[in-house]
Amino acid sequence: MDTQTVVILDFGSQYTQLIARRVREQNVFSVVLPCTVPVNEIEAYKPIGLILSGGPSSVYDADAPAADPRLLEIDAPILGICYGLQFIVHHLGGKVRSATKREYGHAEVTVEDAATPLFAGLPANLAVWMSHGDEALELPAGFRRIAVTSNALAGIANEQRRIWAVQFHPEVHHTPLGPQLLRNFLFSICEARGDWTPAHFIQSTVEAIREKVGTGHVICGLSGGVDSSVAAMLVHRAIGSQLTCIFVNNGVLRKNEFQNVQKNLRDKLGLNIVAVNASAQFLEHLAGVTDPEIKRKRIGQEFITVFEEEANRIAQETGGVDWLVQGTLYPDVIESSSVKGPSQTIKSHHNVGGLPERMKLKLIEPLRDLFKDEVRRIGRDLGMPEDILGRQPFPGPGLAVRILGEVTPERVALLQEADDIVVSEIKAAGLYSKIWQSFAVLLPVMSVGVMGDQRTYAYTAAIRAVHSEDGMTADWTPLPYELMKRISNRIVNEVRGINRVVYDITSKPPGTIEWE
Ligand code: XMP
Repeated sequence: MDTQTVVILDFGSQYTQLIARRVREQNVFSVVLPCTVPVNEIEAYKPIGLILSGGPSSVYDADAPAADPRLLEIDAPILGICYGLQFIVHHLGGKVRSATKREYGHAEVTVEDAATPLFAGLPANLAVWMSHGDEALELPAGFRRIAVTSNALAGIANEQRRIWAVQFHPEVHHTPLGPQLLRNFLFSICEARGDWTPAHFIQSTVEAIREKVGTGHVICGLSGGVDSSVAAMLVHRAIGSQLTCIFVNNGVLRKNEFQNVQKNLRDKLGLNIVAVNASAQFLEHLAGVTDPEIKRKRIGQEFITVFEEEANRIAQETGGVDWLVQGTLYPDVIESSSVKGPSQTIKSHHNVGGLPERMKLKLIEPLRDLFKDEVRRIGRDLGMPEDILGRQPFPGPGLAVRILGEVTPERVALLQEADDIVVSEIKAAGLYSKIWQSFAVLLPVMSVGVMGDQRTYAYTAAIRAVHSEDGMTADWTPLPYELMKRISNRIVNEVRGINRVVYDITSKPPGTIEWE
């Protein structure tokens, strides 16, 4: 099944991913590539259209992104946005006047050529989000102006060359008719079919996995989270019993998580799962450790040890393992190949790093092209329960990074109880799916309280609830007072060992979501 692709070239705009989303929302597949990729890499996608993003530079900057102007010769329609427009004008022989200052804001655009397909069905005046920076003074030969604002050029076209460009941002919320403009580009100009649906994705992915794997054997590390579960289900759909999933209890899972995941994925969905209870071993390695990074590293190392042992056993039973499934998502891929390069590591994330090389495993990453909400849509189409698909993100090192100070079996049990109360109350209030993450943190701070006539001296739990788009930034969420009251009452009454509850009102930045 062929997939039509729109390639988006990233010139460093904060909105590039948003363009990708807007295109995908129209059931058209899109990929973002750094603008500096060799032209033949763009051509390898056989794109049905090319979108050049905005960007912070001026075409005259010494460090302007070194994109190859030959990309403008590619045999596909092109839409330039903001910097994309300057790039087109500059490299096709026009003149751009460099401005010393950039201005962003609402603007009103007057469409001068309603007949150009880009503006089909749009009114003569459009409210847009504009970034005024450099200005195109002279257009390249064959181009004409198709839209203006009261003081600047807003759009150009060269229909013969199939190039259109706008100075404003159709992809942002502040351009209300932006989606229509993008639809015009996709469907009228690029002749997109708009058939990139979950069913299409599942079918083409399943076919590709079958072809790739042949008769080989595949393993997958399950965490119980959305990504690894959906990735495993896709591979399962493709090759059935040639897939073995490994699910490790690292001792810092949520209450009943080890049983629930098995119930949901093995009993209900038929995944072939080897469940390994390695709690004691993990907790031994965490004994005496208080430094957050050392905790993360120990859990990561131990995970690899356990996983490798199981994988070797499976290899013996099946005559060899060739492939490893990973739930890598599209934002991870973009992050590591962006114009700006991977961002600095604030916390080391726990995954099976190092394992594929050591065990000589080849990778299957069926979700590499998807954003999180698209993964959920695929999961729904695969018949997976909301229990798994709607789950809030949970970190690999689990409750260990929510227990400040030493992780002991007793503290894990305390936090499991408190966390269970937070989650169940937030679910009961109908807020679970509206919040990015909500959880309890166990602080090694003891304070005095009174229960009945008894003095208590016990730990403190902090409650954290945040809104976020992607985990990169987050705002703390004001939970309703009644809900906070219920959570606090229940924790103090039901969890022996916690006698005080506080609420975390820190956003990210400057805080992080997890406390460690
Ligand atoms: P922070 O605490 O860095 O977290 O603001 C951002 C998001 O990442 C999750 N997180 C992790 N996820 N392994 C994961 O798979 C990890 O080691 C890890 N640490 C943090 C965190 O829950 C939040 O959603």
